[in-house]
Amino acid sequence: MADFCTRLWVLQANLWLMALVTGGIPADKNGTSSSTGGGCPLVQQHPRYVAAKKNTPVHFICYSKDPHSMQWYKVVEDSDDLYKLDNTSRYNIERQDKFINFTIFRIAYEDNGIYVCDSKDLLAEKKRPHVCGTELRVMGHSNIQQIQSRNTLKDAIIIIQSILLVVFISVPMLLFLDKGEGKESPEEDHTYEGLEVEQMATYEDITPFRDVKAKWTVGEHPGEE
Ligand SMILES: *[C@@H]1O[C@H](CO)[C@@H](O)[C@H](O)[C@H]1NC(C)=O
Ligand SMILES: *[C@@H]1O[C@H](CO)[C@@H](O)[C@H](O)[C@H]1NC(C)=O
Ligand SMILES: *[C@@H]1O[C@H](CO)[C@@H](O)[C@H](O)[C@H]1NC(C)=O
Repeated sequence: MADFCTRLWVLQANLWLMALVTGGIPADKNGTSSSTGGGCPLVQQHPRYVAAKKNTPVHFICYSKDPHSMQWYKVVEDSDDLYKLDNTSRYNIERQDKFINFTIFRIAYEDNGIYVCDSKDLLAEKKRPHVCGTELRVMGHSNIQQIQSRNTLKDAIIIIQSILLVVFISVPMLLFLDKGEGKESPEEDHTYEGLEVEQMATYEDITPFRDVKAKWTVGEHPGEE
């Protein structure tokens, strides 16, 4: 009964481990979900990551209760600069009742960066935008499929890894428990072997003893006479 319990416990621990390993990974795939968490209140950007080919159009949506108080900004990586984005020949910004649609007509390599939708007064108040921006990666023509297949490969490797982890942890543990249970049967074998050895020893002892006795009886006869 105790063994059964430990076995159950080991299985449960492994399941936990698996949930930990696999659970953390796809969490940030849902772009808008993190906006309900800390860091970016009242703003929902969609999508959160865009990888697109050069010269293609890209649009980001910023959902807000009050789109007219919101503004799209661009944050350049490795720099503190914040650029306010307005209608230009390359950009189009359309405010609707519930969202702002920000379009880049033809993306170029210099559009790489992080796009954040935040309060209009951000620059005047010298504040930093929230950290839940949308990252844009402009790709050369061949890169996109490479990246997609690399991502699928990565996912597959992670899944295989967690399965292997569970197998490598649970198999030795189950084997160990099996050994613990099976200890009684080899001991029984040993007792049988022990008996045989003892029996053989007594037989061996007996035969020389008889010989000695026989000699004695032979030798005693002359002394008695
Ligand atoms: C994922 O995003 C969708 C909208 O794109 C939203 O309706 C859904 O609730 C999100 N899921 C989670 C777990 O946040
Ligand atoms: C940008 O231009 C579009 C028309 O192309 C217009 O509907 C929109 O209101 C303009 N947005 C801003 C912020 O000026
Ligand atoms: C945003 O604008 C682009 C191009 O102007 C359009 O294709 C897209 O459907 C718009 N998205 C929404 C949600 O209105």
